[in-house]
Amino acid sequence: MPPEPRAEISLCFVVGARPNFVKAAPVIRACSESGAFRCSLIHTGQHYDRSLSDAFFNDLELPEPDLHLEAGSGSHAAQTGQIMQRLEPLLETDRTDCLVVFGDVNSTLAAALTAAKLGVPIAHVEAGLRSFDSTMPEEINRRVTDCLSALLFTTEESANQNLEREGVAPARVHYVGNTMVDSLLRHLEPARARRPQLADRIPITRQTYGVLTLHRPANVDDQATLTGLWRALEALSARLPIVFPVHPRTRRQLVDSGLAAATSDDRLVCCDPLPYLEFLALMDGARLVLTDSGGIQEETTVLGVPCLTLRSNTERPVTVSRGTNRLVGSDPAVMLPAAITAVERPLPEKPPPPPLWDGRAATRIASVLVDRLRR
Ligand code: UD1
Repeated sequence: MPPEPRAEISLCFVVGARPNFVKAAPVIRACSESGAFRCSLIHTGQHYDRSLSDAFFNDLELPEPDLHLEAGSGSHAAQTGQIMQRLEPLLETDRTDCLVVFGDVNSTLAAALTAAKLGVPIAHVEAGLRSFDSTMPEEINRRVTDCLSALLFTTEESANQNLEREGVAPARVHYVGNTMVDSLLRHLEPARARRPQLADRIPITRQTYGVLTLHRPANVDDQATLTGLWRALEALSARLPIVFPVHPRTRRQLVDSGLAAATSDDRLVCCDPLPYLEFLALMDGARLVLTDSGGIQEETTVLGVPCLTLRSNTERPVTVSRGTNRLVGSDPAVMLPAAITAVERPLPEKPPPPPLWDGRAATRIASVLVDRLRR
């Protein structure tokens, strides 16, 4: 028998933190299923807790990483440097036609820098988003990664405009849609079918509770800001019970600020970070979501769930123009009345999703990669 034709193009996907896993899973699946690529997956180890990493790999049906860099936590420079040092010898020894990175976390930047210095072409999934706030580490990560990437896959029109304004050649930019939405649409029905384990602790009836996530340094690292937000959330929870899956860094800050006692409250219910399917089900049934995450602004837009973003800017403006997302910052005097208004008014109609948020972004990415990398 003649040998199987060898897949010509070798792709290396690098992921490290929770939102990466959600964005990467559909792309890895589409590229693997196309049969055109030899795919490998590297986990940097930026997120290492079971609840932030393994649980996501299981729910998203991600393959086991081929390599794990075990870089772990540290200052931005330490974490970025650690990932670069550990990735460099791997890219030097294995031929890689394209390194694919996702989003805006430190792992994204570290992998892109390493590949660029070795002359390995880079594809950036979720390129072009800009908050125009350089105090956010993610904004620096996005800008630098975009500069270094040969292929820029964008999720929304604002990203195309940002890249055009920055003088990026149009041939590098591919408007493909949102792979986080691919994951959401694939897993929504299974998530609805899975009874959240949380249901044993609190009654989770559709649209009778709120969901909170909070982890950004600007909100949780400053004691006065965190305390102000916490008091407003306690007041809101008197009207609407709130479920709060707590990121490890936030839990540490809550303990250090002496607010941890509040974590036993039965209307502001704190729990460990939830696996992907459980969190999706929780968001889907929520009356209101309060968050400082990027991806959750997008997921609530697709689900049609009102979202208040505890930041003063967003790199994802389509979520605001669609009407599901409102920026309220971290001032309790703004956040609390906005939340009460959102809870008291009738639930708005679900808007149509943004263009190309249709569950097929990863397939488009795989086609572009075949087209652009084929020799
Ligand atoms: C990172 C991303 C952020 C993303 C978030 C999603 C950067 C700069 N930030 O933030 O954009 O929205 O992931 O969750 O890349 N920790 C653990 N266990 C872990 C990982 C972290 O306990 O598995 C704790 C450590 O104390 C660590 C801290 O959380 O120092 C922060 O972790 P890090 O990965 O640096 O950033 P995140 O806050 O998770």
